[in-house]
Amino acid sequence: MRWLVTGAAGQLGHHLAAALRNEDAVCLTRADLDIASEAAVAAAIAEHRPDIVINAAAYTQVDAAETDEATAHVINADGPAHLAAALAEHGGRLIQVSTDYVFDGSATQPYEPDDQTGPQTAYGRTKLAGEVAALAALPRRCTVVRTAWVYGGPGPNFVDTMLRLEAERDFVDVVSDQIGSPTWVADLAGALVELGATPVADPVLHYTNSGSGSWFDLARETFRLAGADPDRVRPTTADRFPRPAPRPAWSVLSPRRWLAAGLTKARPWQEALADLMATRRAASRPETG
Ligand SMILES: NC(=O)c1ccc[n+]([C@@H]2O[C@H](COP(=O)([O-])OP(=O)(O)OC[C@H]3O[C@@H](n4cnc5c(N)ncnc54)[C@H](OP(=O)(O)O)[C@@H]3O)[C@@H](O)[C@H]2O)c1
Repeated sequence: MRWLVTGAAGQLGHHLAAALRNEDAVCLTRADLDIASEAAVAAAIAEHRPDIVINAAAYTQVDAAETDEATAHVINADGPAHLAAALAEHGGRLIQVSTDYVFDGSATQPYEPDDQTGPQTAYGRTKLAGEVAALAALPRRCTVVRTAWVYGGPGPNFVDTMLRLEAERDFVDVVSDQIGSPTWVADLAGALVELGATPVADPVLHYTNSGSGSWFDLARETFRLAGADPDRVRPTTADRFPRPAPRPAWSVLSPRRWLAAGLTKARPWQEALADLMATRRAASRPETG
């Protein structure tokens, strides 16, 4: 089975390339393949003839998208449409990675895949348009996977920001009134590879690490695992940090359909975070012997 990964230098793309290192996998960075170019996408699919494409390429600057929705749309909506159209012609499946931002964030219980969408941001609108376009062009061979609160890098992410601030500041104020499921990118990559190797009929699935918490909870756990005093993280509210794009207050995604499809249950977010920190410690330890 031949895999093709787009956006391979991004956070998820990097970890997909690692997860697929022993497979027949073509991992293309933005410099290799611009998914906004219909012609480039058609040529890449015709050349590589993948059995499965995981689209990890996206315009992910949530705040910048508010003033540049056209660019975000070309990448987040037209990009998946081009991939789906090329696969409709040549054969092959598409896994289109999407986001909790397609919902309005006002729920009080976990979102199911077919719950009413209602994006509140330009980023969310363009990602939802990408879901719709990909499913329309490739109805039986496309799976949209929505995820949330992804961390682990490479590149900017919440956990690495907290580790940097822990080293720089005595106290860090973090919002406690936004709830989601922190998700280690390595777990997400492994889950998408499992999905790619499994026939699944559902058009839309949700995958995050299990459990939920606030950004404040995630920051405290990050400090604790780093050996720092978690009380140096202080709770605050989102209205004290106004941003161009409002963040959802509630972003928990239900894994029910993922599990019903026979896919592996995600582990608790605290366990995944501990694993990331242990991996980092092992990588920074000087070699002996
Ligand atoms: N991070 C999160 O918390 C989160 C949460 C929910 C869902 N998601 C979704 O998860 C997926 C992966 O996100 P991520 O965190 O890995 O994002 P990321 O680190 O920003 O990676 C995205 C990659 O896509 C590349 N890219 C941008 N425009 C492209 C284009 N036109 N053609 C090809 N590649 C292009 C970027 O390259 P440049 O850097 O050169 O622009 C970057 O390498 C995305 O679909 C995102 O919407 C992420």
